Amino acid sequence: MKSVLRKLLSPSLVSSLKSVVERVDKKIIPFFASNSFLSSFYYCFFSTKFRREHQSVLKGRLAYKASLDAINHSSVLLRRNTHRLEKGLIMQPRREIFAEAYIEETVECFRKCIASSSICSDELKWAQDVLVSYFAIVGDSDIINNAKARFETLTLKSFECASESLPYQHQARVQAEVSSDQLLALFQQRRSVRWYEQKPVELELIKQAIEMASQAPSACNRQPFQFYTITDMNKASDVASIAMGTTGFSDNIPALIVVMGDLSAYPAERDRHVIYIDGGLASMQLMLAFETLGLSSCPINWPDIEICERKIAKKLALDKHLRPIMLMSVGYGQSTGKIPYSQKKSAEILLKEVN
Ligand SMILES: Cc1cc2nc3c(=O)[nH]c(=O)nc-3n(C[C@H](O)[C@H](O)[C@H](O)COP(=O)(O)O)c2cc1C
Repeated sequence: MKSVLRKLLSPSLVSSLKSVVERVDKKIIPFFASNSFLSSFYYCFFSTKFRREHQSVLKGRLAYKASLDAINHSSVLLRRNTHRLEKGLIMQPRREIFAEAYIEETVECFRKCIASSSICSDELKWAQDVLVSYFAIVGDSDIINNAKARFETLTLKSFECASESLPYQHQARVQAEVSSDQLLALFQQRRSVRWYEQKPVELELIKQAIEMASQAPSACNRQPFQFYTITDMNKASDVASIAMGTTGFSDNIPALIVVMGDLSAYPAERDRHVIYIDGGLASMQLMLAFETLGLSSCPINWPDIEICERKIAKKLALDKHLRPIMLMSVGYGQSTGKIPYSQKKSAEILLKEVN
């Protein structure tokens, strides 16, 4: 609608209309911002800016419910509950009875997962190892005994990998041989690069970087995101050009990743922001991983703008519960292409001591 009006009206009329809207907003916003009910009223009747998010959250809740029965390669419920059990197993001191509130649900979900042919075997093995360990140490209660009896009726899978996916001691964790100077150098090496050599990026390299990025933390270990990857240079430029922040360099982008948040990971609205946090953390690791593989990248803003959202949803055939978090250009940096200095704030400014 807005773009149609823009085409029909002269630029001066558009700017006068904009300033009228701004003046009206200035007058009415203090009133509507005075409490949460009026704020919702404002966004219901005066602005449609949250409309898509509302629909996405509701579609996400529906898709979450559907995913409990139609298990695909991963189950968010199994991942979340297995992680809750892991935390119970490492508790200091460990409680005799724990996880009563969700153990029956977990065993039922595990049952559906072992019956599924498409579930990821590493995920299933992790859940199975944790459940076996849980039932071996947890105390007695009616709920736990029922769940245990049900678990014992299930035919457990045997996996090729012999090592157990179980909690381990801090001293046994992987030790990286990276000094803080080396890590700082990697952080400084990574800069937003917008000018690339015009050669394709190998999908295998991107896959390797994603494998590395998947080590990022995520709330309840759900990892509610996917990296939609385009290595066809024409298509990468085409999709990149939908975002406003690529003006002037979209044609130069050899590969593009759309970091996609999946709201079907949550049964309730309270977690709707977690896709942005988890997706952002993984994206940071992805950009650093690219650097170690000789690739450069640039994060690209994905503002919540209706027309852009509609275009990208059409190009990538997105369901409503999928929300682009950001875009990322990837490629071999042009050695003479320039990089903005982009001064960083010092720790003195960033650190706010709380006593
Ligand atoms: C969420 C996010 C969105 C960004 N969007 C854009 C963008 O649309 N276009 C662009 O050229 N750079 C974009 N950038 C890159 C920033 O301009 C850049 O990170 C910042 O200036 C710091 O520079 P550095 O990345 O080289 O350290 C974005 C960065 C982030 C983290």
